[in-house]
Amino acid sequence: MEVVKMSRVKFYYGGGVPLEMHKVRIVQKLSLVPVERRLEALKEAGNNTFLLKNKDIYLDMLTDSGVNAMSDNQLAAMMQADDSYAGSATFTRLENKIREIFGTEYFLPAHQGRACENILSQVFVRHGTVVPMNYHFTTSKSHVVLNGGTVEELIRDEGLEIRSSLPFKGNMDTDKLKSLIRERGADKVAFVRMEAGTNLIGGQPFALQNLREVSQICRKNGILLVLDASLLADNLYFIKTREASCKDMTVAQITRTMADLSDIIYFSARKLGCARGGGICTASRELYERIRELIPVYEGFLTYGGMSVREMEAIAVGLDETMDEDMISQGPLFIEYMVDRLDKVGVPVITPAGGLGCHLNAMEFLDHIPQSQYPAGALAAAMFLVSGVRGMERGTLSEQREPDGSEVFSNMELLRLALPRRVFTLSQVEYAIDRIRWLYENRKLVGGLNFVEEPKMLRFFFGKLEPVSDWQQVLAKKFRADFGDSL
Ligand code: F0G
Repeated sequence: MEVVKMSRVKFYYGGGVPLEMHKVRIVQKLSLVPVERRLEALKEAGNNTFLLKNKDIYLDMLTDSGVNAMSDNQLAAMMQADDSYAGSATFTRLENKIREIFGTEYFLPAHQGRACENILSQVFVRHGTVVPMNYHFTTSKSHVVLNGGTVEELIRDEGLEIRSSLPFKGNMDTDKLKSLIRERGADKVAFVRMEAGTNLIGGQPFALQNLREVSQICRKNGILLVLDASLLADNLYFIKTREASCKDMTVAQITRTMADLSDIIYFSARKLGCARGGGICTASRELYERIRELIPVYEGFLTYGGMSVREMEAIAVGLDETMDEDMISQGPLFIEYMVDRLDKVGVPVITPAGGLGCHLNAMEFLDHIPQSQYPAGALAAAMFLVSGVRGMERGTLSEQREPDGSEVFSNMELLRLALPRRVFTLSQVEYAIDRIRWLYENRKLVGGLNFVEEPKMLRFFFGKLEPVSDWQQVLAKKFRADFGDSL
């Protein structure tokens, strides 16, 4: 019997919507506080969405990290965890699942994705070496830099175009990779890192063919290829549905092919596998032995690596479920729905829709706000004020100042509205779309932000800002006038 896939259910009378292939069996109550309270909450949080309290938030679209919905089978598996410090049966189950899926003999557990990055950078990055990437992720870059290396982003130029119909904006430019190796010498390349579902450019995928070409170049030059598989689920879905040559492959076959092309795979299991944890996988005994000794130093013994055994059981089941097209299509289909609806009415969003979430282009949305007043940060604050939806700034606020104090203006100013998998309903997505449209119509009321407390490191996590004028009071008043006593 052929099982009908979520993405292929057609509606007879047209106008179909993505149809869920799961039902909800556990719920968490949400509250939507009035705009006046949201204004106060924003002030208390210093206009930084990281500092908001959950009680004031209606839809939490900050991230998909550690907050994807878990399945009944994941929860059931958590009850059978074996918490032996060493030699736990839980570890063996996870290791076997990873062997089955990636074909990698060795698995080194770590407490989350950045812990893997710390360890890989300590082992392979030396002063003066370079790590070419399709694009950086904040934590992956920090670890390379902390170990004396530099990062080179070799994304194809088209990957940075906000509006596009290119299916694989996350592709690495292989010509740029070849020239970099020629100029710097293969021995100066610590490893090449390919990030699935490229986070900071809007959850954009790379093609399997691109990974194949990058892998060939790496193998020819004796350079390690490291795959960051944190956002693999989305990337798998896009390869399956957008790459013509892969349409007859199963998700499991695509995964296995990607793994065979890579020397090391690491992942944040806060994303991949819908639980909390991480790990490093390799088929090479030699690489395994080089990496292994740092696991007990930073993470924990080799059979848990800082993770709770319950989470490890959930990851094993979650990875297995990731091989199901119905499971991995839910995020991309909901995101596509949101992006297409906004795009059609002229709200500036990153296109085509990627994984992870819907990304609003604050540079265009708020084109009257200079980058020195953080348009993406201002949009995040305004969005929360008018909706109770919490997103994450991905722009200049997330950069760090130069040593001389000058600002580093980001390439893109984005507000990321993450859609954790299987968490929100389509009516909640509709609500977010409605409030975004209203905000777009009233965008001229939104002003910029200035720092009042600016930490030197990771200012986007802890920094506090204030509006440059009374624009938030004005916006709240307009909201009240237009929505009456609705929240
Ligand atoms: N790699 C990618 C592509 C990521 O998106 C993340 C985390 C990490 C590595 C680090 O993993 O959080 O488990 O240490 N991204 C989160 C986000 C934080 O919100 O996008 P971690």
